[in-house]
Amino acid sequence: MRKKIIAGNWKMNKTPAQAAAFAKEMAAKADNASVDVVFCVPYTAISTAINAVAGTNVAIGAQNMHFEESGAYTGEIAPGMLTEIGVKYVIIGHSERRAYFGETDCDVNKKLKVALAHGLIPIVCVGESLTQRQLGITIEHVRIQVKAAFDGISAADATKAVIAYEPIWAIGTGVTATSAQAEEACAAVRQVVGEIYDAQTAEAIRIQYGGSVTADNAAELFNQSNIDGGLVGGASIKDDFDRIVNYKR
Ligand code: 13P
Repeated sequence: MRKKIIAGNWKMNKTPAQAAAFAKEMAAKADNASVDVVFCVPYTAISTAINAVAGTNVAIGAQNMHFEESGAYTGEIAPGMLTEIGVKYVIIGHSERRAYFGETDCDVNKKLKVALAHGLIPIVCVGESLTQRQLGITIEHVRIQVKAAFDGISAADATKAVIAYEPIWAIGTGVTATSAQAEEACAAVRQVVGEIYDAQTAEAIRIQYGGSVTADNAAELFNQSNIDGGLVGGASIKDDFDRIVNYKR
């Protein structure tokens, strides 16, 4: 039985002090041991957020990292810098990183390998644009993204990763995928994992849905058989995020 994982992607929101206050308050309400709960906060808020959630079941994640260990990469953050301060998760290949910062499938693959080598749990994002959905190539596109991301990664490592299916047209738009659309794509992701590896790996890997998840639609989405929780943006920094974590099973 896969344990559900619900992660908040705070994106570029909250200063260290604001993050500490919100993380502390939310961790107290969203401390649900039956679900893995993660707050992916801005780099500058990681330390204060980690202190704020100490003693709860909430883990802190980063929203990105570089694939090199160190070097002349102005403005970047290396994996070892994250693990040393207690980061447990890292989002990789979010569509905003792909669209605004030119991240490629190849970068995603390198980052995924490095994250796993450092013991970070990667949350690998895939998902189609509106045009791709309208062209009927959603599943093809998502399959290619998964294959490229996991190239050269062992089954044992793949099992540790989380994949977030996030249709770009649903991100920040208030247009949530229907539970049928989300389930179809998450099932396709699971199927391609099975083709790359085996049935056991496909059964074990956790697949989230993301894109305009709210406290009102979370339960229906997360209760689909191939959806193992969510990657939540806007609603993860609202006062009722605990309603998403404590969704009705
Ligand atoms: P929203 O929940 O704001 O649509 O964002 C989803 C997302 O991008 C999470 O990574």
